[in-house]
Parts: sequence; C-alpha cells; structure tokens
Amino acid sequence: MLLRKPKEEDQARLMDYMMEHYANGEMSISASNGMPTMPYKEWLEKLNDDESGKNEDWGISETYLLLNDNRVVGILNIRYTLSEDKVEKFGHIGYGVRPSERRKGYATYMLKEALKKCREKNMTEVILGCYEDNIASQKTILNNEGVLYKKSKLKNKNSLYYRVTL
Ligand SMILES: CC(C)(COP(=O)(O)OP(=O)(O)OC[C@H]1O[C@@H](n2cnc3c(N)ncnc32)[C@H](O)[C@@H]1OP(=O)(O)O)[C@@H](O)C(=O)NCCC(=O)NCCS
Repeated sequence: MLLRKPKEEDQARLMDYMMEHYANGEMSISASNGMPTMPYKEWLEKLNDDESGKNEDWGISETYLLLNDNRVVGILNIRYTLSEDKVEKFGHIGYGVRPSERRKGYATYMLKEALKKCREKNMTEVILGCYEDNIASQKTILNNEGVLYKKSKLKNKNSLYYRVTL
C-alpha cells in the first residue's frame, strides 16, 4: 500500500477509478479536487498550484492517491489553511474509496495519515465534517479520535462536525 501524490503516469489508473464510481451510480468523485472536470495535465498543474497556495478560495491543499496492487483504491485531500467559514462547512480533510474496496480500512488509514501530515505542519486541531446519513464516514472519523461538536445543515442536508485535537 502506498500513499503518494498523483503523477502523469496515473491517468489511466484514475480513469479506471472514476469509471468504477460511475458504474456504481456515483457521479461525484470525493476528494478529487475537480479531477473529472478538466484535462488530466491541467488537473496536475492545478494540484501544484494548490500546494503552493495559489488557490485563494481553498488555501494550501494537497491531494494524495492511495495505491494497492498498482490500482488507485482511494483519494485524499488535505486543506491546511482553509478559512474559518469554509472549515466550518467542509472541514480540513476529504477522502473517498473506490466502491469495490470499501470496508477494508482504507479510509481509516488515509485519515490517520492525513492527521499525521497536519501535525507535521504544526496544526493543533482538525475539523472534519460529514453528512449525518454517511455512517461509513462517521465511523472513519470516530476511528481517528474525532469528537462530535456540532450538528448543522450543508446543502440542506443534516451534517455532523467533529474535532480532532492533534
Ligand atoms: C466513506 C468512505 C470513504 C469509507 O471508506 P472505507 O474505506 O470503506 O472505510 P473503512 O473501511 O476505513 O471503514 C470505516 C468504518 O466504517 C464502517 N463502514 C464502512 N462502510 C460502511 C457502510 N456502508 N455502512 C456502515 N458502516 C460502514 C466500517 O465497518 C468501519 O467501521 P469499524 O472500524 O467500526 O468496523 C467510503 O464509503 C466512500 O468513499 N464513500 C463515498 C465518498 C464519501 O462519502 N466520502 C466522505 C465524505 S465526508
């Protein structure tokens, strides 16, 4: 298992990852930072810009792929310097796992690694949000010491917000 940044050579792997979501009736690719909406090379450039803080809306962020057996099994997005109002809506960290690889501990692992990276950047607290009906994401957060502190609505859906003290 390998958690690393996307490279040019990953294009076909990521296409395969997306297609599996679509075949499963999932039209959005969580944590992909807009991957399906632009040409692959443009997306890689965007990730570089996002890492260097050129994205005024989302601050400094990093996107990682989790690979197993040469396949992308998950995507992770860490938003280190999000403004307070966006943190309170979207949280610092997003993740997704391909449908056929769920319930194997991958999201729990990615979140654990993301929290380590936040700690390395001297963050002292991370906010995580998920919809109330997303039991898998709630459990992923609880597996990583998330403490529920707020319930509110995002896009008219009940959402839960957790705090992790680093
Ligand atoms: C949420 C998601 C990332 C979880 O990924 P995953 O790799 O299956 O998660 P894990 O295997 O680490 O499982 C975490 C916990 O959730 C549980 N779980 C996973 N899927 C579940 C489901 N469909 N229903 C109930 N519990 C579930 C696991 O059993 C595990 O609990 P446990 O540790 O108490 O046994 C995955 O379902 C996904 O990609 N969903 C679509 C995108 C998404 O919702 N992203 C998060 C946005 S906030």
